[in-house]
Amino acid sequence: MRRHLIGWTLLFLLSCGGSAWAADSVCVQCHGGLDGRLSAPVAEWQQSIHADNGIACHDCHGGDPSDFAMAMNPQRGFVGVPDYGDVPDFCGRCHLGVAEDYRDSAHGKALNRGGPQCVVCHQNHHVVKASSDLINPESCSRCHDYERAATVKQEIGDTEMRLTTLERSVAALHRVGIDMETVSGELFQNRNAFRRLFHTVDIDKLKQKKAGVNAELDQVEAQIVEIESELSQRKMIGGILVVLLLLAGAVALLIRQTYHQEEHD
Ligand code: HEC
Ligand code: HEC
Ligand code: HEC
Ligand code: HEC
Ligand code: HEC
Repeated sequence: MRRHLIGWTLLFLLSCGGSAWAADSVCVQCHGGLDGRLSAPVAEWQQSIHADNGIACHDCHGGDPSDFAMAMNPQRGFVGVPDYGDVPDFCGRCHLGVAEDYRDSAHGKALNRGGPQCVVCHQNHHVVKASSDLINPESCSRCHDYERAATVKQEIGDTEMRLTTLERSVAALHRVGIDMETVSGELFQNRNAFRRLFHTVDIDKLKQKKAGVNAELDQVEAQIVEIESELSQRKMIGGILVVLLLLAGAVALLIRQTYHQEEHD
């Protein structure tokens, strides 16, 4: 009975440590020891935002990460490598909102005529946190002039900066122990709504939706300013209390000294 308990506990702990286990899957073990194009994905993936979030080889390619012999068997769900045109569906299983905007965009519609898909801009294994840095002449002038890319980047830049500043304020307030859950949630939603917009590559749509996001951010900012001024008020009251206490202490000391002196006289 006791043995069973230990066994189940171990199994439970193992299944909880999902991402540690993902790094140790048979896919990583075997591919890590192969050559060239077969082993390169391991090191690239290890530095990715996917590895950080426990998304492993088999989450994208399918297969059985616990069985050396059957790992790449289609019967265990192995799907292998997608064709160029299938990549948006392949990645879009998890990134639904982005994939939807992408499919409706000039890029998505040109997919079968040389339009770029996810991997062209984000890479396949070394996927990192996305930002407007991805919009640069090296990447965006492969197929057309950089002019239109630059316009998109300019359109995104100021709101991206605003989001970063607001996120810093929220983090700073959270650090001094203030409950920021609601504000943080609103900020997160707007950030997501804004960041998927890039994939429309439609300047008019971007401008229009950006105005909506900015209006919401005005409200978030107002809430942060209010919390900050409440905090500084509280600090001021605290400061005044400290001064008052010090004063009271000094007065008490003075009274005692006078009293002592009177006793000695
Ligand atoms: C025992 C070693 C071994 C294990 C375990 C293993 N692979 Fe492979 N993998 C290979 C070899 C060898 C190749 C190249 C030959 C081939 O395609 O069969 C390969 C090829 C691949 C390819 C490229 C296929 C193509 O069409 O180019 C992918 C993707 C892949 N493996 C993913 C995985 C995933 C995901 C897992 C775990 C679920 C896994 N592998 C487990 C040895 C392994
Ligand atoms: C985020 C999804 C994702 C993850 C996670 C992922 N891959 Fe891939 N992998 C892809 C895509 C997409 C391609 C096809 C690339 C292309 O079209 O450029 C690919 C291609 C490959 C290839 C073929 C490479 C070539 O040059 O022919 C191998 C081998 C491979 N992956 C193995 C792995 C292994 C091993 C892991 C885990 C360490 C892994 N992949 C994790 C998405 C992923
Ligand atoms: C033409 C280049 C390009 C293509 C094609 C592309 N992306 Fe992006 N992606 C970007 C840029 C640039 C950003 C950063 C936008 C920002 O931060 O405002 C981004 C941001 C993201 C984000 C973070 C934003 C969010 O909402 O979480 C995800 C996830 C993402 N892309 C996934 C994908 C997927 C999946 C595909 C394919 C369906 C794809 N991307 C196609 C360039 C591209
Ligand atoms: C099995 C689900 C899954 C698949 C398939 C997948 N991703 Fe992700 N992806 C995630 C998760 C989880 C994160 C981390 C949380 C987040 O930021 O959304 C992430 C993060 C990202 C980010 C960074 C988002 C940011 O906030 O900046 C990009 C870019 C991205 N993925 C692109 C891709 C691309 C390109 C593919 C296909 C090659 C792909 N993903 C396939 C689950 C997946
Ligand atoms: C693999 C080729 C390719 C790459 C790389 C590429 N584009 Fe495009 N882009 C296209 C195609 C194809 C079209 C649609 C046909 C056209 O308008 O020329 C397009 C159209 C556009 C449009 C116009 C959309 C419209 O509605 O008029 C913008 C904006 C744009 N791309 C921005 C970017 C940005 C930003 C990047 C880099 C992050 C980028 N592109 C990278 C192929 C590419």
